[in-house]
Amino acid sequence: MGTLLQNKNIVIMGLRNKWSIAWGIAQAAAGEGAGLIFTCQSDREKEETEKLTAELGKFPVYICDISADENINEVFDVIRERHGVLHGVVHAIAHANPEDLSNDFVYTSRAGFLHALDVSAYSLVAVARKARELMTEGGSIVTLTYMGSEKVFGGYNVMGVTKAALEASVRYLASDLGPSGIRVNAISAGPIKTMSARGVKNFSNILSVVEEKAPLRRDVTKEDIGSACLFLLSDLSGGMTGEVTHVDCGFNVMGI
Ligand SMILES: NC(=O)c1ccc[n+]([C@@H]2O[C@H](COP(=O)([O-])OP(=O)(O)OC[C@H]3O[C@@H](n4cnc5c(N)ncnc54)[C@H](O)[C@@H]3O)[C@@H](O)[C@H]2O)c1
Repeated sequence: MGTLLQNKNIVIMGLRNKWSIAWGIAQAAAGEGAGLIFTCQSDREKEETEKLTAELGKFPVYICDISADENINEVFDVIRERHGVLHGVVHAIAHANPEDLSNDFVYTSRAGFLHALDVSAYSLVAVARKARELMTEGGSIVTLTYMGSEKVFGGYNVMGVTKAALEASVRYLASDLGPSGIRVNAISAGPIKTMSARGVKNFSNILSVVEEKAPLRRDVTKEDIGSACLFLLSDLSGGMTGEVTHVDCGFNVMGI
């Protein structure tokens, strides 16, 4: 086992199943000695999350619906009581209503737009505000974004707009929290087949285009994201904050 994250308490939010990007991150972080703390959305996911995390060691799982401030506050208060200081948070959460990913973007409803922004972007702000209270020795917050914030990917729709808001939030949070030694960064991951990704129309097509066109001629894996996230969580990236780092086999640098 490595020691990159030894003596660091890291909260991982958004582990749903073994296909989740958060699972790649959890495996990498556990392998470097992190003290992991997991949150999942509701009772429904808790059992599966606990079964998975047991493979890595004895780590607690708390329920946190990220759309409710009181739930976020409660969970981080419990974490403070039971675990004391916090060194890292991984925010791997997003949601949009299915109809907003299957219709044209122009039909996005006001409610659907607000829901996607609330769960997928504002949640980072709410989490960072609370987590900073526990990051008394400095810390690293990492979120997951997608290139659909920069360019149009048919079917990504409102989620592209929320990722643009998320990336801007990363920069503003980095500015606010930097003086306390807390860094905030995003990984812009290439497409990976997960439960959330299945909601995006033509997702298989996106995967095959990346495989064909990306400089590395393959799709990214959750292990690739896990190791990049290790770097961002650890002191190795101590001079980096406010960055959106592409981990996408180079796809974003291509023109045609
Ligand atoms: N899969 C991809 O191709 C890809 C690419 C780039 C970025 N991302 C991003 O990675 C992150 C993780 O997604 P994933 O692809 O691993 O899918 P996933 O479905 O495994 O994970 C999404 C998680 O969000 C959680 N969630 C949704 N609403 C929530 C709420 N109200 N409260 C708490 N949790 C909630 C779900 O329970 C789930 O654990 C997301 O931000 C996603 O946009 C994914």
